[in-house]
Amino acid sequence: GDPCLVETSGGNVSADHVVVASHYRFLYRSMMFPRVHPSRSYAMVGPVSGTVPEGMYLSTEPAWSVRPVRVGDETLVLTGGAGHTVGQHYDTEARYEELERWSREKLGMTEVRYRWSTQDGTSVDTLPYIGRLTPVSRRAYTATAFRKWGMTNGTLAGMILADLITETPNEWASLYDPHRATLKASAPKFAKENVKVAGHWLRDRLSHPQSGVPGDLAPGEAAVVGTAPGQVAAYRDDAGELHKVSAVCTHLGCIVSWNNAETTWDCPCHGSRFDVDGKVIQGPAVKDLEPKD
Ligand code: FES
Repeated sequence: GDPCLVETSGGNVSADHVVVASHYRFLYRSMMFPRVHPSRSYAMVGPVSGTVPEGMYLSTEPAWSVRPVRVGDETLVLTGGAGHTVGQHYDTEARYEELERWSREKLGMTEVRYRWSTQDGTSVDTLPYIGRLTPVSRRAYTATAFRKWGMTNGTLAGMILADLITETPNEWASLYDPHRATLKASAPKFAKENVKVAGHWLRDRLSHPQSGVPGDLAPGEAAVVGTAPGQVAAYRDDAGELHKVSAVCTHLGCIVSWNNAETTWDCPCHGSRFDVDGKVIQGPAVKDLEPKD
């Protein structure tokens, strides 16, 4: 509209221009979700017995990254890697262990002070999408698929979008345009990724690798049980309470998978994530998983 009206749970906001910078697009009309492939990766920070690297270093395959971090008076080392596509039944805790092993062996990390995992999307040609939300949008913009280079690409997005909004020529804008003609060259990759998604959707209806009975779960264990369309995602917490929600993702109906390191239910199709009580913590889903009795 003119001006744009953004409806939120906390009230409505009107603006001349709107930038949808919500990481993964939740607006269906932008049809961004089939064009962004989500993956998770792991990071940790700790002191090292060896030399602290002065710069940032990145390997190619497998992809590990290293950089120094100042925390108070200390210089610690941040390592990252062990990435994988979201929700593919990985033992996610093992990914932290793999990163820790590598950090201890290669850098002499003596202790893990902090650790976390993160999720980001990659476009079909690996460059971010920065520009108009749809080919005909005049007031709505997007910036996404930063491929874990959020600080760099977020800054770049700010520069390009500010120029688009103020109608200032920007020589990089066409390269990052979400509707760039060069994306046609990536059609095979687009097809391959979406065939994988369709495969998940079908396979999850016919069988599921996780099985069990919710009542049998020990504290800390989780399983998807039952058959389509009524699969239940069950988790027993350390206090013994059983949490049961529908295993059917509220985005487009794929079956969620357990993430043991983060204690979340993650969707393998477009990366939506939910807590153990079904609350959405990461889109593109916007609705919670249904509670199950
Ligand atoms: Fe799309 Fe779950 S995120 S089906």
